[in-house]
Amino acid sequence: MNLKTTTWKGRNIHNLQRTLDFAVKKKMVHPVIIDIGPGGSVAFMTAFLPLGKKAEISFYQLCIRKVESLMRKSGLFRLNTMEPLEIAGIFSPLQPGQLMVFDREKKVLNAVRDLVDNGQFNVPVKTARIDIQKQSPGVEADIVIALNILSRTTKKEMALKNLVAATKLHGLICINIDESPPGFRKLGRSVFERIK
Ligand SMILES: C[S@@+](CC[C@H](N)C(=O)[O-])C[C@H]1O[C@@H](n2cnc3c(N)ncnc32)[C@H](O)[C@@H]1O
Repeated sequence: MNLKTTTWKGRNIHNLQRTLDFAVKKKMVHPVIIDIGPGGSVAFMTAFLPLGKKAEISFYQLCIRKVESLMRKSGLFRLNTMEPLEIAGIFSPLQPGQLMVFDREKKVLNAVRDLVDNGQFNVPVKTARIDIQKQSPGVEADIVIALNILSRTTKKEMALKNLVAATKLHGLICINIDESPPGFRKLGRSVFERIK
């Protein structure tokens, strides 16, 4: 399957920073972090992709995004992924014990492995291929990042159940939903703590 949905550099910085702030308040150290659905873009075009929200970009930048999208959907090009590195960077003050990255697209996971092989991470990284609509990651983490993935699923209830199942008791999940899932309480926009 070819990656149809997109991502770009810095897309989730605010959500990640907010999650870090709550993790610091909770005095987390060496957290295990899960990133589900990091996304990817055509590797050689990554540097040209605009930052920020769609509404704020120029027509020229929009064209670049369209071209990248067409190339990505062809499945012919290697992908780059940015979110796992951004997570490793933003959460570095907590000295994460491990970063686990899950996605259903092999090319996205290959992009993570490329970064690992190039020594880009300051934290041990594991990857695994899963479809979150069918299974949970099967492990629990102190911090789960699951941004812009639920909206891409058709079986939303099952996907949400599997996403939140990866959060440890008293751990945090950063996910684009408004209401707290059962067993969680909302700490701030898109950040929830598991309380049961
Ligand atoms: C729109 S991208 C989001 C990328 C990044 N998290 C962001 O916010 O920019 C959606 C990501 O979720 C993955 N994904 C979509 N449906 C999935 C599923 N059912 N199981 C696992 N991964 C899925 C896609 O392959 C892609 O990497």
